[in-house]
Amino acid sequence: MAKIIDGKKVSAGVRADIAAETAKLREERGLKVGLAVVIVGNNPASRVYVNNKKKACEEVGFQSFEYAMDENTTEEQLLDLITVLNHDDRVNGILVQLPLPKQINEKAIINAIVPEKDVDAFHPVNVGKIMIGDYSFLPCTPAGVMELIASTGTDITGKNCVVVGRSNIVGKPMAMLLLHQNGTVTICHSKTKNLREICLGADILVVAVGKADFVTGDMIKEGAVVIDVGMNRRENGKLCGDVEFESAEKKASYITPVPGGVGPMTITMLMKNTLTAAKQQAGI
Ligand code: GUN
Repeated sequence: MAKIIDGKKVSAGVRADIAAETAKLREERGLKVGLAVVIVGNNPASRVYVNNKKKACEEVGFQSFEYAMDENTTEEQLLDLITVLNHDDRVNGILVQLPLPKQINEKAIINAIVPEKDVDAFHPVNVGKIMIGDYSFLPCTPAGVMELIASTGTDITGKNCVVVGRSNIVGKPMAMLLLHQNGTVTICHSKTKNLREICLGADILVVAVGKADFVTGDMIKEGAVVIDVGMNRRENGKLCGDVEFESAEKKASYITPVPGGVGPMTITMLMKNTLTAAKQQAGI
C-alpha cells in the first residue's frame, strides 16, 4: 500500500519559510511584498482560485490587490490595467486568472505583463528561461510537484519519469524540471501509442490530462511515485484526480491524493515566486 503524500503539510512548511522571510524583509529593510490578482468575468472555479490566492497572501504576510473586471471587459481595457500594474511599485507580481472571456486574447495579455512581474512564469521570456535551466520563476504547478517528489526522499537522477499531458502550463515545463534534475523523461499525450506500456516503465509518473480515472493501477509499476495533477468533478459533485486512486495506491510507493495533493502546492509556489520577484525588484 502506498504512502500518501500530504500536500497540505508540505505546503504549510514552505509557506512558513516564506512568511518568515517576508517578515524579516519588512523588519530589516522596510520592504513590503505585493501581488495583484486580476479576475475577469464570473467563472465560479476562477473565483475560488482567486479567493484562495488572496488568502494565501494574507497567510504569508503579502499585500494583495484584487482587480475584478466585468465579463464584457475588452482586451484593450485589460491591457490598460496591465500597463498600470507594470508601473505600480507596490505590485511585485501580476496574476491574471485564466481562462479569460472569449473576446480577450490570452496570449496578448500574457505577453503584456513585464517578465519581472510574471509570477505565473507564462511569459515567453520566462518559458524560454525554464527551457535553458536559467530561471528565477518556477512554473507553479510543476514546481509544486518537484517539492512533493523531494518530500518522499526520491532521487530523480537516472529515474524513468513519465509525464502524461503536454500542456504549456503543466506537462511541458514539468518535463523540463525533471530533466534538469537528471531524470530520463518521456512525455505522453492523446496520440501516444502503447500508453500503458510506457506508464508501466515509470519510476516517477506525473499525470496531468484532466480526465477522471485516466490512469489505472494496471498502468503503474510496483513501487512507483505517482503524482496526480488532475482536478475533476464527478457527477455527484465530488472532486477527483486523473488517477484511479483505489487501484493505484496498491501499486505505488507514494501517491498524492485529490484534493490535498498538488493543489495546495501550486498556490504556495506562486507565493514563492512573488517573494522572489519582490527581492529581485529591490536588488536583493
Ligand atoms: N488557471 C488555471 N491554472 C492557472 C494558473 O496556474 N494560473 C493562472 N493565472 N490561471 C490559471
